[in-house]
Amino acid sequence: MSIRWDGIILGASLATLDTDADYGEIRNGVLGWKNGLLCYVGSRRDLPGDPHRIADIVIEADGWITPGLVDCHTHLVFAGDRAREFELRLQGASYEDIARSGGGIVSTVRATREADEEAVLQQSLPRANALLRDGVTTVEIKSGYGLDFENERKMLRVARRIEQQLGLPVSTTYLGAHALPPEFAGRHDDYIDAVVEWLPRLHAEGLVDAVDAFCEGIGFDPAQTRRVFDAARALGLPVKLHADQLSDLGGAGLVAEFGGLSADHVEHTSEAGVQAMAAHGVVAVLLPGAFHVLRETRLPPLDAFREHGVAMAVATDCNPGTSPLLSMRQAMQLACTHFRLTPLEALRGATINGARALGLNDRGVLRVGMRADFVHWAVAHPAELCYWLGGSFARGVYIGGERRG
Ligand code: NIG
Ligand code: FE
Repeated sequence: MSIRWDGIILGASLATLDTDADYGEIRNGVLGWKNGLLCYVGSRRDLPGDPHRIADIVIEADGWITPGLVDCHTHLVFAGDRAREFELRLQGASYEDIARSGGGIVSTVRATREADEEAVLQQSLPRANALLRDGVTTVEIKSGYGLDFENERKMLRVARRIEQQLGLPVSTTYLGAHALPPEFAGRHDDYIDAVVEWLPRLHAEGLVDAVDAFCEGIGFDPAQTRRVFDAARALGLPVKLHADQLSDLGGAGLVAEFGGLSADHVEHTSEAGVQAMAAHGVVAVLLPGAFHVLRETRLPPLDAFREHGVAMAVATDCNPGTSPLLSMRQAMQLACTHFRLTPLEALRGATINGARALGLNDRGVLRVGMRADFVHWAVAHPAELCYWLGGSFARGVYIGGERRG
């Protein structure tokens, strides 16, 4: 064979997900890759010749191989923790009570502002690494704990440095409109002026891939959110939204109106919101970690998403307040347990639909020409990925054909 492949892994079953109907299973499968892309996806039977004559690296495997997991919603860059707030909530305080009394997001803002870039990086790297070791091959990271120009910039720079240090692709999201910083108390509109002014400066430094906001009673109203989205649109940046998490402010419909990537949380999204999402191809990002930690009871409109063909993604929402969750497998487990997703829906939500929520169409499925991002798991069936609580099942995490975990 004249053109050698860089690598080949063979013997495991493949869950290609290259079909809407099932896992797209190939028993005794083979993946081959070259220059970071898959160049062969098939069964061992059909492999043309001795693998050692085809590829430089030959890996014998058993168990299962899935596409690499895509965590499309995290706030994993921050300093400090909120364990004390967790205790207060267990004693009866609500998330909103704590936010209104100066805790919550604003307390992480204080800690993140006080730490320099290196310290924020050192505190955040282990979180990204934990996700990677449990199968994540692309992660989205939001700003939103800086809430001034320098500190939002610091967070986004840390996100880019995580990509460089771990070889883990990072998609950055500017979430300046996450909460009102204390210096703007009572002046939401003035703060939005500032958020809108910082955006092109951060974008000019190559720090922004998408723009998000927290549209909620304790966040920003739809008119303020719209101003942030207008600023994103002026720069050609895609939008997404913390939408309808604690109440229905029509956030999902607003994302749809702007042709955005995703509406996230969506517990309170109305039927009209779901229809608007379907009409504009907006992905519903389900965040069962926050639902679980806040002990929410209102389920997202899952049947309406299915009925209208809205793609559902699953993400960790890794953050110090509502979802200190460091594993996509656990997010998938919670999505099945709380939201009754099937394990196949959860896996699609953690791969192909997560990629879609980031506007990435080169990953999330095992298909020739896609990125060689895949995970070799020690499981007997892919449903096991949603079944265990805890444990360690990833035997190899490959990103662009390189073993990273
Ligand atoms: O996705 N809802 C707003 N943002 C985060 C929580 C952030 C925090 O509490 O620090 C969320 O749940
Ligand atoms: Fe979030």
